Amino acid sequence: MNADQMELALPEVQTEPEPAPASRALRHEVAAHRLLEVRDLSVSFDGFKAVDGLSFSVDACELRVVIGPNGAGKTTLLDMICGKTRPTAGQIVFDGQDVTRLSEDRIVKLGIGCKFQTPSVYEDLTVLENLEISLPQGQGVFSSLFFRRDAQVRQALAWAAEQVFLQDLLGHKAGQLSHGQKQWLEIAMLLTQNPKLLLLDEPVAGMSPHEREQTAELLQRISRGKAVIVIEHDMDFVKRIAHKVTVLHQGRVLSEGTAAQVQVDPRVVDVYLGH
Ligand SMILES: Nc1ncnc2c1ncn2[C@@H]1O[C@H](COP(=O)(O)OP(=O)(O)OP(=O)(O)O)[C@@H](O)[C@H]1O
Ligand SMILES: [Mg+2]
Repeated sequence: MNADQMELALPEVQTEPEPAPASRALRHEVAAHRLLEVRDLSVSFDGFKAVDGLSFSVDACELRVVIGPNGAGKTTLLDMICGKTRPTAGQIVFDGQDVTRLSEDRIVKLGIGCKFQTPSVYEDLTVLENLEISLPQGQGVFSSLFFRRDAQVRQALAWAAEQVFLQDLLGHKAGQLSHGQKQWLEIAMLLTQNPKLLLLDEPVAGMSPHEREQTAELLQRISRGKAVIVIEHDMDFVKRIAHKVTVLHQGRVLSEGTAAQVQVDPRVVDVYLGH
């Protein structure tokens, strides 16, 4: 990748203040562009339907949170969108294209970035090296040596590190980072690929309260330029970040709406929040 292409690949840095939740919702209604559509999706494991006729959609620049009790099918849903698990029925349409049966690699190239529950950074490499190898065409030793010489790419990687509060730790081994910082590094590794949709499975699990605060700010910032789907259990965090919440139960959508709406839905209180 040359310097010009890298510049194009860089996400925009947004400086405007975050609007209040109500005006955010309004903005979505006015400028809604459906980015992801999941239609009647199902998957069975040995006859057990982990996801069962599930439909939902997400707009561009929307921050959607998926909640639900343990075993509701949240991770399985994410795995299917990312191409890690093959659905037994239904369809996933991303940016106008049917991606239901595409490989994980193809799905990444089309602009979906996935972060799974456990951080998967290279512990023996530095923060900078982890970012280098995550560049779209930076896979492999030779290309990453090539990138090392490119000042503009270094700038792009420093930008990604700054987004996730790791700008002063570029030379540190990833293994020395806190659990939360590893989660952030993984998000930055996804950001270098400039996806249109980010999927994050419980990104604040194991984070300190301060790290959670910073992550809320980070996700709000990211969702001004991309769609983000976050799976989360912590309702305080959910209320803080969600434009809209989808509640799953037994592989289906139980309820959907703003955090305030789903919190008072008796079905949600019954199977999830009341416990
Ligand atoms: N590969 C698999 N083989 C068999 N069963 C599976 C497999 N993956 C998931 N399941 C089952 O599917 C159901 C949904 O699991 P899933 O991991 O999607 O739930 P979840 O909503 O992410 O739960 P949690 O909040 O605990 O992370 C569970 O009953 C789980 O045991
Ligand atoms: Mg899960």
